Amino acid sequence: MRRQIVAGNWKMNTTPIEGVELIKGVAALKGEVCSSVEFVVAPPFTHLSEVVKATRGTGILVAAQNCATEAKGAYTGEISASMIASLGVEYVILGHSERREYYGETSATLNKKMVQVFANNLIPIYCVGEVLEERESGKYFDVVKAQIEEVVFELTEEQFEKTIIAYEPVWAIGTGKTASADQAQEIHAYIREVLKSKFGVKAENTSILYGGSCNPANAAEIFSKEDVDGGLIGGAALVAENFINIGKGFKK
Ligand code: PGA
Repeated sequence: MRRQIVAGNWKMNTTPIEGVELIKGVAALKGEVCSSVEFVVAPPFTHLSEVVKATRGTGILVAAQNCATEAKGAYTGEISASMIASLGVEYVILGHSERREYYGETSATLNKKMVQVFANNLIPIYCVGEVLEERESGKYFDVVKAQIEEVVFELTEEQFEKTIIAYEPVWAIGTGKTASADQAQEIHAYIREVLKSKFGVKAENTSILYGGSCNPANAAEIFSKEDVDGGLIGGAALVAENFINIGKGFKK
C-alpha cells in the first residue's frame, strides 16, 4: 500500500516562535486524522532545529525546503544536506517550481542535490509541474516526463523506492486555481506510467502528492483519486486547523 502523506511547505513564512506555535497546533489536532496519514512540515532553515525538537513524540516529520549541490566548503549562504541531516530532519523538497523559476534550478542542479540528499540518508520530495502555457498547449505531459526522466531516472532502484514525487502545476500554486480532481488523476496516472517504464512495478508503491491551492474544501475530492497519495500544501499549511482538515480529506 502507498503511504498517504500531507506535507506543508511553509516557504519563506513564520519566525521560529511562530513555527513552533504552528507545530504545537498541528500536533494538538493530529489525533482527529486517521493515523495512517503521515504529516510532514517544511519550515525555513532558521528554525528547522526548533521545529524538529517541537515535533518529538508527535509523529510529525520534518523536511527542509532545499539543500546545497555540494557537500561542504566555500559556498557562502548555502546549507548542506549533512547539516540538515544532523538536525534530525527526514526529507528535503527538491525542484520546487519557485526554485526552478527564481533561482535557476535545472535538472543538472537537481541531480547534484539528489546525490547529496541520498549521501546523507535523507529522502527527497521531488517536485514536477508545468506552467500555464504548457498546460494550455497540451505540452504538459512532455514537460513532466522530461522533469522525471532527467532526474528520477538517474537514481538507483534503491533510491527510487524511497523517493516521493509531488506534481504541482505552476498555474495552480498560490493562485487559488486548483487542478480539478480529474486533471490531477490524469497526470498522476501518467507520471506513474513514466516511472513504471523505468522502475517497473516498484512505481506502484511511489507516493505521488498533488500541490497547488490544495485546501480543506477541495482536498477530499483530489485525494479520492486512485493515483493521488496526498498533498504538498503551501498557504493552507500555515494555519494548523486548515492543515489538519486537509489531512481529514483522506477517506480511504
Ligand atoms: P499553495 O502552494 O498550496 O500555496 O498553492 C503549494 C506549493 O507550492 O507547494
